[in-house]
Amino acid sequence: MDKTILCIGAGYVGAPTMAVLADNCPEYRVIVVDINEQRIAAWNSDKLPIYEPGLDEVVKRNRNKNLFFSTDVQGGIKKAGIIFVSVNTPTKTSGRGAGKAANLQYWEQTARDIIEHSENDKIVIEKSTLPVRTAEAMHRILSANDKGLNFDIISNPEFMAEGTAVDDLQSPDRVLIGAMEDESGQRALRRIVAIYQHWIADNKIKTTNVWSSELSKLVANAMLAQRVSSINSISALCEKTDANILDVSDAIGMDSRIGAKFIKAGIGFGGSCFKKDILNLVYLCEYYGLPEVAAYWEQVVKINDYQGRRFVDNIVNRMFNNIAGKKIAVFGFAFKADTGDTRESPAITICKLLLEENAQLAIHDPQALHNAKLDLADSSGEISYCENPAEAATDAHAIVILTEWQQFKDYDYRQFYRAMKKPAFIFDGRNILDHQALYELGYNVFPLGQKARNHLDCHSY
Ligand SMILES: NC(=O)c1ccc[n+]([C@@H]2O[C@H](COP(=O)([O-])OP(=O)(O)OC[C@H]3O[C@@H](n4cnc5c(N)ncnc54)[C@H](O)[C@@H]3O)[C@@H](O)[C@H]2O)c1
Repeated sequence: MDKTILCIGAGYVGAPTMAVLADNCPEYRVIVVDINEQRIAAWNSDKLPIYEPGLDEVVKRNRNKNLFFSTDVQGGIKKAGIIFVSVNTPTKTSGRGAGKAANLQYWEQTARDIIEHSENDKIVIEKSTLPVRTAEAMHRILSANDKGLNFDIISNPEFMAEGTAVDDLQSPDRVLIGAMEDESGQRALRRIVAIYQHWIADNKIKTTNVWSSELSKLVANAMLAQRVSSINSISALCEKTDANILDVSDAIGMDSRIGAKFIKAGIGFGGSCFKKDILNLVYLCEYYGLPEVAAYWEQVVKINDYQGRRFVDNIVNRMFNNIAGKKIAVFGFAFKADTGDTRESPAITICKLLLEENAQLAIHDPQALHNAKLDLADSSGEISYCENPAEAATDAHAIVILTEWQQFKDYDYRQFYRAMKKPAFIFDGRNILDHQALYELGYNVFPLGQKARNHLDCHSY
C-alpha cells in the first residue's frame, strides 16, 4: 500500500503528472481515476484526450505496467496509501463569492469519498490549486471520520504549463511541498520528498508549511498574469506614440532584475488557471479585509479583458467601421501554441465580438477545432471550421492571428493574398509574422503595439 499512489482527477494536470511520476518511479504502482468514463477510455486508447508534446510516448511506455487509468475511484482509495487530488477547482458561478471565489465542491466530494472508502491511514496531497487555508478545512473534514484513521494533508501545487507539460514535469524549476508542522505532517512530508527525489535534485525541492505552499501557487500565477497585463497595457500606449512594443520588451527584458520572459504583448492571457486564480486571490484579499490589495490584482484581469476588446475595435475601425457580411479568417483558437486547450482562450471572446458585428468567421487551428466548435456552439452567426488554412483565407477580407503557432509563420501568405478580397488585411494579435514582407505582398498589416503598415493611409506608414 505504501507503494501505491492514487491520483483522483485525470485532467490536464493529474494524468501527465502521474505519467511522469510513474516513468521515474518504477517501483510505485500509480493509478489515475476519474468519474468521467469517456476521459478514462481515451487515456486507455491510442488517441489520448489531450495533446501535449511528448505525452504519448511517456504514457504508452508506462501504461498497464505501473501506470493505470480507471473509473474505480472507490477501489483506488482502498488500495493507495498516498492520494493526489487533482480535480478541477473552477470559479463559483453562484452564491457567496460568485465570479471570484473557488468552487470547492469537486474537491470536497473527493474528501468525502476518501473518508467513506478508506480502511487505513493515508497521505492526501492537494495537487489542485486551492485558496490558502483549504488544507485546514480538508483536515477538519477528514478528521471527522469515525474509523479512527489519520490523514495527513500535504500541499504540492503544480507549476507545469500546458504546451510544455512533459518537459516542465521532468525538469521543473522547483517542486513545492508544504506540510503541517507537527510530527505526523513532517513524516508525511519526508515520504513525498522521497518520491520526487527519484528525478529531482534536492536544491529544486522547496519545503514550506502548508499555507505558504497554497498561497505561493496563487501568487505565482498572479505575478505571471500581471506581467502579461503590464506589457499589454504598454502596447496600447505604443500604438499612440510610435514606440515599438518589441523594442520596449527587449529593452526592459535585458535588465536582469526584470528578465525577458512573459513580457510579449498579445491579445491577452487565457487558460483555465490565470483568471480564476487571480480572482480567487482577489476574493481572499476582500475576505481578509484588504480592499486595496484586492483592487490591485483585479486590475490585471480588467486589462486583460480590455486588450481583447481593443483588438476587435481596431479590426472594425480599420476595416472601414464595418465587418458585417465580411469573411474573416481566424488563425488560432487555442489559448496558446502547442495545446488544443481553449479554456478561457481570448479567441472565444474575440470571435464572439466579431460575430456580434455580423462577420463570417472561418476558424483554423492545428489542434483546437474540436474545442472551438464546443465553445462557439451557442453563438449565432456564420462560422466554418477549416483544417486547411488556404480554405479559411479564400475570399476572406482579413486574416486575424490569435494563437502563436509556429507553423503560422511558414504559411504561403502570397497564395492567400491572391485568393483574398481586396484590400486585404492582417491583424497579428501575437506579433509572430514578418510584417514588412506581408506589407510588400500587398497586405495592410496591423500588429499589436507597433506602427501599422498600411497602404490605405499614408499617415500610418
Ligand atoms: N491546466 C493547467 O495547466 C494547470 C496547471 C497547474 C495547476 N492546475 C490546477 O490543477 C487542477 C486540475 O486542473 P486540470 O486542468 O487538470 O482540470 P481538468 O478539468 O482537466 O481535470 C479535472 C478532472 O477531475 C475530475 N473529477 C472531478 N471531480 C471528481 C471526483 N469527485 N472524482 C474523480 N474525478 C473527479 C473531472 O472529471 C476532470 O476530468 C485545478 O485546480 C487547476 O487550477 C492546472
